[in-house]
Formats: sequence, C-alpha cells, structure tokens
Amino acid sequence: MIQAIVPAAGSGERLGSKIEKPYVLLAGIPMVVQTLRALESVKEIDSIVLVVSRRWQKRVRREILERYRIERVAAVVRGGATRMESVYAGLSSLDQRTQWALVHDAARPLVTSKEVSRLIQSARRDGAVCPGIIPKDTTKRVDEDNWVKKTLDRCRLRAVLTPQVFRRDILLQAYERALAKGYSGTDEASLVERLGVKVKIIEGNPENIKITTPEDLLLAEAILKKRKRPS
Ligand code: CTP
Ligand code: MG
Repeated sequence: MIQAIVPAAGSGERLGSKIEKPYVLLAGIPMVVQTLRALESVKEIDSIVLVVSRRWQKRVRREILERYRIERVAAVVRGGATRMESVYAGLSSLDQRTQWALVHDAARPLVTSKEVSRLIQSARRDGAVCPGIIPKDTTKRVDEDNWVKKTLDRCRLRAVLTPQVFRRDILLQAYERALAKGYSGTDEASLVERLGVKVKIIEGNPENIKITTPEDLLLAEAILKKRKRPS
C-alpha cells in the first residue's frame, strides 16, 4: 500500500500573494487542485493525506475537494509552523498498514503521473528515492564574506525536487530521530540520510518546478499552455 502526503500548510511568503499559496489560481484552478489531480491519476497511490493550515482545515473539504471532485484524499490534517512539522503531522496519520510513503509539495503542481510512477518503481527497488536535476548554472561555494572557496563539479550536484518516496517505517524513524535530536531539514531525504539509510536520486523532470516566487507562476502558466497544445 502506498499513501501520499501533500504538505499544503505554508503561507507562501516569497510569492507575496494575499491568499495562501496552495490556493492561488494557476490556469484558473487552485494550485493544490492541480497537484492532487496529478497524484490521483497515479494508479499505484492508494490514498492521499492533505496537510493544511488551521484557517483552511474546515473549508478545504467543501471549497476544494468537493468542488473540484477530488476523491482520493483519505484525511485532511492540520499542519504546523514549518514544513517539517506539517509533513510529520501527515506521516503520523498514515494507515499503519501502509508500506510506502510518498511526500509531494502542494507547490509543485506540474508533476506528471509518469514521473511519479517512475519514482515509485525505483523506490520498490532502492528503498528511498527522490528526483534530482543537475544544476544548469555553475555553482560555487563561498565563505561568510562571499569570497569563492571552490567551484563545485556540477556533474556531481543535484537540485532535489519532490515527490520523495520511502518505506513508511524508515521515514517515521527519520522524523522521530530528527525531532528528538532537534535537527531540521528542508526535505525528507536529508532526514533519512542522517539515519544512515542510502537515498537514490533519479533524474527529475525539469518542468516539475516549485512555485516559490512570482516568476515561477508565469513559467508554470507557460508550461501548462504548452501541454494543452495538441502536438
Ligand atoms: N508547507 C507546509 N507547512 C509549512 C510550510 C510549508 O505544509 N509550515 C508546505 C507548503 O505549503 C508547500 C511546501 O511545504 O507546499 C513547500 O514549501 P514552500 O515552497 O517553502 O512554501 P511556503 O513555506 O508556503 O512558502 P515560503 O517559504 O515562501 O513562505
Ligand atoms: Mg517555506
């Protein structure tokens, strides 16, 4: 059994919109709806746990799930002050029988079912997997005064995206250890790595961008328009 956790409890400070980022419209549809629809179309995913802010906890069923006919959300849980707290809330509410947990940001609405299936397939073989992309720009490490220390070998670098897929028990253990020891990470893999579990990276889809700043919305609209065009 595979369950997906979708953290959607962030406010989207860097986007600077009045409404919380997951509910911002993209091609006329709330971003989180696009994200949930993509996950719903993946047949390997049994159900989805959606993590929302306190303000949306009561509204999301009617205004999002019912209105847009999203059917595979098994639970709506309240997130926390950080992404990590929100994912942990979702993780804690997964079905005990679930063997695999997939975590995907609501802010990545352009994910495709094809890449999700590929990640799941790879997770079944490798145990812990996330998508990554070789950075397009030359990347340098700097000191605290911005003097270059080193130019990094791009071929060995990966910018990491979601969905990330893990055995549920490993992910839970990784989160519990991180919370107990007080360390944090901006993705799941970093916490799993600290358990000493190996994480495999497979090639990510460059169109699966995270909507972070206003330019990302323009790019996302352009990608959606291109996808609609018959080829
Ligand atoms: N997220 C969450 N709970 C939080 C913070 C973030 O569930 N307390 C979710 C966001 O809704 C988003 C994903 O984690 O889907 C990735 O986070 P990010 O892109 O950083 O979104 P925000 O934190 O909302 O944006 P910002 O950092 O600009 O405020
Ligand atoms: Mg954030």
